[in-house]
Amino acid sequence: MPSDTLVATLRAAGCVFAEEEAALLQEAAGDDAALAGLVARRVAGEPLEQVVGFVDLGGLRLRVAPGCFVPRQRTMLLVREAVAAARAAGPGAVVVEAYAGVAPVAAHVAVAVPDARLYAVERDERVLGAARANGGGRVSVHHGDVLDGLPPAVAGRVAVVAAVPPYVPDDDLALMPREAREHEAPSALLGGPDGLGPFRALVEAASGWLAPGGVVLAEVSVGQAPSAIAAAQTLGYAATAVTEEATAVVRVVR
Ligand SMILES: C[S@@+](CC[C@H](N)C(=O)[O-])C[C@H]1O[C@@H](n2cnc3c(N)ncnc32)[C@H](O)[C@@H]1O
Repeated sequence: MPSDTLVATLRAAGCVFAEEEAALLQEAAGDDAALAGLVARRVAGEPLEQVVGFVDLGGLRLRVAPGCFVPRQRTMLLVREAVAAARAAGPGAVVVEAYAGVAPVAAHVAVAVPDARLYAVERDERVLGAARANGGGRVSVHHGDVLDGLPPAVAGRVAVVAAVPPYVPDDDLALMPREAREHEAPSALLGGPDGLGPFRALVEAASGWLAPGGVVLAEVSVGQAPSAIAAAQTLGYAATAVTEEATAVVRVVR
């Protein structure tokens, strides 16, 4: 397909960055037959990252799979907090990405903190392959509910739990972009009536895994941060938040 035809097709389908998307689709396809298939999927509304099979996040190219949650650029705030916490914990720090999806945070910590010992836990079996690929052999990826899949040997030794829990309030699903509503699993997005059910479950589950002084770092929206801090305090933890635009990372300390 000629490049100008491809750009026009994408633009007609509502793709704002049609030139950039065209280049990525051509790179991913390799030949014209494959390109036609990828363009058809994109024109039908599938997220670009799921179509080409990767997302660029903070200088890392991460694998994604059809139907899986696509890591968001805003999660670089959590990545920076997790890297800083892992470094502060000292050599050989045990770092866990919970609600891991394709494990973007663990992948970044693996690169930035070469001596960290990394784990990821995820409930959706369909994304485990991408999580393992993104970990580059450094991240031990486990299938389980919240933290249940972790090996017993790390109980009481975890310095950092980092997570993007599902945190959209159930009633806000209709407000999500169509790409998310139609191509990401509701179980990856929705967090119950106030959006904080999975956050609370993580803070409760973490108590058996954290080392003394260990931290839970969890992304939520800025508007949810005060409620998340209050929930952590109710469970007996100290909590603060850092924010960047509409995103907050709540830091829960034992
Ligand atoms: C918002 S996505 C975040 C994924 C990844 N951390 C990222 O930023 O791209 C939440 C992930 O949590 C997973 N998940 C939802 N409930 C879970 C549970 N109870 N235990 C483990 N994983 C769960 C979903 O399948 C999804 O992959």
